[in-house]
Amino acid sequence: MSRLSVVVSLSAACAACAAFASLAVEMAEPKDVPPLFPPGAWVPNAKNWHAGRRAEIKKILADEVYGHRPVERPPHLAFSEVSPEKTMMDGNAMRRLVKIEYGGKYGTNSFSVTAFVPKSQKRVPAFVFVCNRPAEECLDPERIVKSDFWPAERIVERGYAAIAFYMGDVTPDRPHGNTLGVFAAFSDVESHYRNRREWGALSAWAWGASRVLDWIETQPDIDAGHVAVIGHSRGGKIALVAAAWDERFAMACSNDSGCGGAKLNHVDLLGSEHFVNLCTTRPFWFDDGFVAWVNRDDRSPWDQHWLVAMIAPRLVCIGSATDDDWAGPYGEYLTARYASPAWRRIFGKKGFVSSGFPAPGAPQQEGEISYHLRSGKHDLTPYDWNVYMDFADRHGWRCARGQGKEEAGE
Ligand code: GCU
Repeated sequence: MSRLSVVVSLSAACAACAAFASLAVEMAEPKDVPPLFPPGAWVPNAKNWHAGRRAEIKKILADEVYGHRPVERPPHLAFSEVSPEKTMMDGNAMRRLVKIEYGGKYGTNSFSVTAFVPKSQKRVPAFVFVCNRPAEECLDPERIVKSDFWPAERIVERGYAAIAFYMGDVTPDRPHGNTLGVFAAFSDVESHYRNRREWGALSAWAWGASRVLDWIETQPDIDAGHVAVIGHSRGGKIALVAAAWDERFAMACSNDSGCGGAKLNHVDLLGSEHFVNLCTTRPFWFDDGFVAWVNRDDRSPWDQHWLVAMIAPRLVCIGSATDDDWAGPYGEYLTARYASPAWRRIFGKKGFVSSGFPAPGAPQQEGEISYHLRSGKHDLTPYDWNVYMDFADRHGWRCARGQGKEEAGE
């Protein structure tokens, strides 16, 4: 579709939406997007994808962006309940407070997980929430403080286990955080800053999500085959990395994750974040290779649709908000589009079914990639949560407690 026709069809679809109209001027096609399947390289099919092109993509993304993990599941990994299981949410859920303890060459450490598991005859699917806001603001295990950001009651009501951890508990979100938490257990932190091809913090936090999944696998009432990892903003970047690196996650939900997450780099959107900001304000999220790409976003030999493609043929949700220029909604939409051939060409699935950049409140959920645009600001709202749960329902995740089709009304 030409730039003009996109603008015209959008104005017709959403004439009254002023915030949305400002997005329309940006909708040029990106240039020179690095192809998922370079000509003459692997002819992708379901058999060679994993060890072939996917492995190649994983290595490039580790070298250039997220770093190489020194460890996956560590030999020393222990789970303990920090207080007895408790019935909550009007008798509808069991709460489990869990400590995940791990140890490596350089030390041991731990982080906490709060889980609300709906009572059900069948094993329940789950959402693992990578919480990027202070735990006391939204993760109250007693549910006295409640927040729309983490609507645990609603998640349970819809038949999903609501499981959350605070990312800062895995390793603090600050430059010297990379000498603490998981880093202090598995990395030689003395030399970590001098020569760091090892994991940056995004990968370390994503590693934490995988350890939560290790715990879930020990729970007889949770269906470990239907677990989504979800996060907002930096948490959304983490969710994508978690599912790309750990194929046990059946779904990833990236909410407003932007640069370094779901936003395509090869498109220059007014007001959106570029590598230069991430490299100067948060270099510790990445490995050293990433800094080399400052001001060269549109020349990087990879792009974010590669990260999303690593999740194929599993489910992916990408959510944006109209007033969130920083995250680049249109760039997030493009990533869904450019990743789609991984589903279509390799696995013969639908991938991303879209007739164009959608109007707010009109999720595109027909294939295995869901994209939606919400009106409003950078946030994770009950509307977004409903879109993600609707998508899981649509793919048959709904458990015994579910009550039929939900509509994500705005
Ligand atoms: C900053 C950062 C973004 C990030 C966001 C967040 O704005 O530049 O990349 O997504 O914080 O996590 O809130």
